[in-house]
Amino acid sequence: MLTTLVTWIPLLQIVAAYTTCDVDAYENLIRTRYEKSQDYTFPVDSGSHRALSATAAPTDFGEYDFVVIGGGSTGAVMATRLSEVRDWKVLVIEAGRWPEKLVSITSASYKINIMSDYNWGYYSVQQNNSCLGFVGNRCPLPRGKGLGGTSLLNAMIYVRGNKHDYQKWCGMGNPGWCYKDVLPYFLKSENFHHTNKLAPVDVKYHNYSGPLWVEQPMPFHEHHKVFLKANEQMGYKIRDINGKEQIGAMPFQVNTKKGRRQDSGTAFLKPVLYRDNLKVMPNSLVTKILFDGKTATGVKFLNNGIEYKVGVRKEVILSAGTINSPQLLMLSGVGPAEHLKEHNIEVVADLPAVGQSYSDHLQVHGLVFSSNISEPTTTLRTSIEQYLTRGQGPLAEAAPTQAVGYYRTRLEKTPGYSDLELSFQDTNDTTDALTHYYNWKSSISSRTSIVNASTSFQIFATPLHTKSLGTVRLKSADPLDFPLVDPNILSDKDGHDFDLAYEGIQLVLNLTQQEAFKKIDTKLTHQPLLECSDVKFLTKDYWRCAAKYIINHNNHPVSTCKMGPNAKKNVVDHKLKVHGIANLRVADASVIPLSMSAHINAICYMIADKGADMIKADW
Ligand SMILES: Cc1cc2nc3c(=O)[nH]c(=O)nc-3n(C[C@H](O)[C@H](O)[C@H](O)COP(=O)(O)OP(=O)(O)OC[C@H]3O[C@@H](n4cnc5c(N)ncnc54)[C@H](O)[C@@H]3O)c2cc1C
Ligand SMILES: *[C@@H]1O[C@H](CO)[C@@H](O)[C@H](O)[C@H]1NC(C)=O
Ligand SMILES: *[C@@H]1O[C@H](CO)[C@@H](O)[C@H](O)[C@H]1NC(C)=O
Ligand SMILES: *[C@@H]1O[C@H](CO)[C@@H](O)[C@H](O)[C@H]1NC(C)=O
Ligand SMILES: *[C@@H]1O[C@H](CO)[C@@H](O)[C@H](O)[C@H]1NC(C)=O
Ligand SMILES: *[C@@H]1O[C@H](CO)[C@@H](O)[C@H](O)[C@H]1NC(C)=O
Ligand SMILES: *[C@@H]1O[C@H](CO)[C@@H](O)[C@H](O)[C@H]1NC(C)=O
Repeated sequence: MLTTLVTWIPLLQIVAAYTTCDVDAYENLIRTRYEKSQDYTFPVDSGSHRALSATAAPTDFGEYDFVVIGGGSTGAVMATRLSEVRDWKVLVIEAGRWPEKLVSITSASYKINIMSDYNWGYYSVQQNNSCLGFVGNRCPLPRGKGLGGTSLLNAMIYVRGNKHDYQKWCGMGNPGWCYKDVLPYFLKSENFHHTNKLAPVDVKYHNYSGPLWVEQPMPFHEHHKVFLKANEQMGYKIRDINGKEQIGAMPFQVNTKKGRRQDSGTAFLKPVLYRDNLKVMPNSLVTKILFDGKTATGVKFLNNGIEYKVGVRKEVILSAGTINSPQLLMLSGVGPAEHLKEHNIEVVADLPAVGQSYSDHLQVHGLVFSSNISEPTTTLRTSIEQYLTRGQGPLAEAAPTQAVGYYRTRLEKTPGYSDLELSFQDTNDTTDALTHYYNWKSSISSRTSIVNASTSFQIFATPLHTKSLGTVRLKSADPLDFPLVDPNILSDKDGHDFDLAYEGIQLVLNLTQQEAFKKIDTKLTHQPLLECSDVKFLTKDYWRCAAKYIINHNNHPVSTCKMGPNAKKNVVDHKLKVHGIANLRVADASVIPLSMSAHINAICYMIADKGADMIKADW
């Protein structure tokens, strides 16, 4: 039954006309897959890729000019750009598969995609100072698996960052990464659609003809209007934060096309699959990068139980993401020599920075409020109709989050440089992912998710410019073992990260006391955590205690293959080349050298586009 329904779906792509059968098919698909996701259990290793024979010699897969490892946010764009050169043969090797139609339904991200094999299913090692609100004190680390990578799971929020981020980035010894250098690459890919007429748009900072759609979710919710109004009442500007100045609030810009997910595979790679110099190998796990001395010469990978070996004439481009890129470098002998020796891995290059400097933004959960206005509630069928006709409504949004603000707290010295984000969300959603994959302890969720479906909301405070550093290390020399990830948030010695979170909490509490929120009878519904009952509720000490339970990382890890000139402290140079190794570059979020004032996905596209131009110039 399900297969017949699934075969229906490709016929339904076109926005506009639909029949009752179409709505039935969607309803069935969503309900069936939703139920399946509730029972999904995550793998604990990559054993599903295991070779049938442990001893067979690898099968020859020929030779390519470029092999891109990972077809995720960055890799899919990189392969698209490199294969524009028709006499270069380009191979993309991706561990996951092409996404099914269901994945493109934007709202499936936290409800279904995260709880499926489109997610690697990583969890952190046990934490002692944070993530105590999760079962086992382990935080979930969702990472996308499939063509599109983590852009198959993410909320598709489109933020480029603050110009000071890039001034810092290039100031760290990375010529070519200043704001004026990167802005043209953001514009190159963008296809902007001004769908929310209430939203200010700095038109000079947008492009209207690239491959990547940007829209504002519609209809715009009442609660979000109140949030923007309260920002104005506190003196903040409502402005396009992807424009000239970043500090202020606005309705979100997101990567959807008529409400459909614009992951990197869909937006970039699929339209160029006809190129005969481009080959994509899904369901293929790369297990090792091969070297001749200190020159990369190819890779080994597993597909369907068979081990293959493929050669490169020009370069290997590693785009496996912030967790898997350092893992693969270490498995291949590039990393901290001592750590490699612990696992009897032959050292190709001693690069101590591989897997170090793991850095993420934070997200404060539990700032939940009640109000006396209601968002309209809709049935699934109505939502489907809304989605099919106009590409709008609950199915066209990853989560009911439609507005964001960027702020400079007293901890940030540079004028115009934001170090705090607030994102606003109706609490009517995402609770399934939060209880299932995210695994909150019930003692915490029962105090922090007291919501009424349509009248409650929450404001996430997101400290940026965090200073705590974590690591990615090998569990063993076996490429089928998951790596050990220690995000180690809230661990910096001077307590900066907690202080910043506290500023964020105070700003949220101040904002919700503005006239606009008073008018809708806003009340904090966060209940004191029993774990913190020995300190006075709502004091700084209370939040210091609660932070360990309610603060999670924000899914934006960077810097495990940090860019910079010093081979002792960095992994790649400003041209993305791995220090001390020839014909190997890393291009993904792992090279980003600082904690940015942004979400990370658009930056990955920029890195791919800029990296591809550098590679074209070099060859
Ligand atoms: C839940 C969630 C929500 C998010 N929301 C947003 C948002 O709204 N806006 C935003 O800007 N950012 C968001 N992010 C962050 C953003 O999506 C990521 O930073 C970005 O996708 C990372 O891109 P990447 O190219 O570095 O890695 P990925 O996109 O993860 O790509 C890596 C690819 O490599 C493949 N791979 C890994 N190892 C191997 C191997 N050994 N062999 C073969 N293939 C391999 C993986 O399967 C994957 O496809 C979110 C992230 C998450 C998890
Ligand atoms: C947490 O504490 C335990 C017990 O003291 C220790 O074994 C473990 O290494 C610590 N974890 C981290 C991530 O520091
Ligand atoms: C807009 O996008 C198109 C297609 O990528 C590109 O050719 C053009 O140069 C871009 N415009 C700007 C201002 O970057
Ligand atoms: C939810 O609604 C019910 C009924 O209107 C009300 O009694 C309750 O206090 C509300 N809870 C919250 C957290 O707003
Ligand atoms: C809000 O949640 C309720 C209960 O899950 C659901 O019935 C309703 O359709 C949702 N409303 C919207 C606008 O999604
Ligand atoms: C919140 O308001 C208080 C009282 O007006 C003020 O002292 C404090 O600086 C404000 N904090 C933030 C982060 O806005
Ligand atoms: C909501 O509360 C405010 C403040 O108490 C009140 O003025 C307003 O009339 C209420 N609105 C509704 C719809 O109940």
